[in-house]
Amino acid sequence: MISMGERFETKTVHIGHQPLRQVQSKSTPIYQTSVFAFEGLEEVEKYYTGEGEYLYTRNGNPNQAELADAIAALEGAAAGVSASSGMGAIMAGLLAVLQPGDHVLASHEIYGGTYALLNKELTRFQIELECINLNELDSLSDHIRSTTKLFFMETITNPLLTVADMPFWIKQAKNHGLTVMIDNTFATPYLVQPLSLGADLVVHSATKYIGGHSDVTSGVLVGNAELLGRAREIVSNYGASLSPFEAWLTSRGLKTLALRMERQCDNAREVANFLKQHPAVKTVYYPSEESTSFFARQKQGAMVSFTLADESGIYDFYRALEWIKFAPSLAGVETSVSHPVTTSHRAFTEEQRQATGITMGLVRLSVGIESAADIIEELDRALGK
Ligand SMILES: Cc1ncc(COP(=O)(O)O)c(C=O)c1O
Repeated sequence: MISMGERFETKTVHIGHQPLRQVQSKSTPIYQTSVFAFEGLEEVEKYYTGEGEYLYTRNGNPNQAELADAIAALEGAAAGVSASSGMGAIMAGLLAVLQPGDHVLASHEIYGGTYALLNKELTRFQIELECINLNELDSLSDHIRSTTKLFFMETITNPLLTVADMPFWIKQAKNHGLTVMIDNTFATPYLVQPLSLGADLVVHSATKYIGGHSDVTSGVLVGNAELLGRAREIVSNYGASLSPFEAWLTSRGLKTLALRMERQCDNAREVANFLKQHPAVKTVYYPSEESTSFFARQKQGAMVSFTLADESGIYDFYRALEWIKFAPSLAGVETSVSHPVTTSHRAFTEEQRQATGITMGLVRLSVGIESAADIIEELDRALGK
């Protein structure tokens, strides 16, 4: 036991403390500490010269590193950083690359939060955003300016689950000397690793499939060591660091990513096939085998969106669901449904709704690991009403 003061008040503070206890725990301990203690000034000096790893949890913590290193390894990246949310990770990636005066090309089908970050926050730093419709273009050339720096797209888009020809767009962007950042949240490295296709940065809302249990908000950014060095500084300077417990929970979820994705993707295919022939369903949005031919596996993801044939039945449909919960997020082990028009795409005008197909009758389904037969029965019952 370490020596300490003899009086009760001092003992109660110090007596249980065993910071250096060496035990072989099977799971990673949670380093629930805001700061790390040092033997002396020499050790502090070592931290600043790069020999020591941790000083203060906002700057780095073993649980944050475990998650970031794992995703970096799975995505084939040299380095990674975890963040307090997917948005924190996206912000770090964008700010690691962009300077005032730069121009960003982004797919018009990106998550609303990413759009708001680019369009509302980064424009304040004179960073210009241009959204382009990848479904209608065959080249980036007409949109490239001398200031164009970064190209951003998602592997599978939300909520219409479009899969653009990512290998083609990455190649185009690289030919123009752009930095390419891919949001791989909906696909995960289980389905595709965008860095292997030439991307520079890959970002995840680890809140979704990486964590997988709807019990954590976290994000990860991976890429080359130089960009990630800057991104780590940004996460720390902007205070977007992931808490040790959230990092630990996300890492625990990650262990079953392959099993969950396999089951969820297989279930989603069955559900999509069922919905395609249901008379109460008008259109099913589910990636085609052709559009996902560049994926590492013959699976199309675990999200299915669809519209009701009779839009006025939308309230009854949600009310009729018994165990599938309405929750405006996705990717948990439990099947859940969301309604883009009243949640993520609330700000859309009626005109925008019609133009994009994100209409009142659109349902977004996140397929879980339950029995596909039960999911289908539950949907069938609700559609019948
Ligand atoms: C594709 C995508 N990227 C990023 C985010 C933002 O992630 P977070 O909510 O963890 O900040 C989301 C959230 O829904 C998302 O769907």
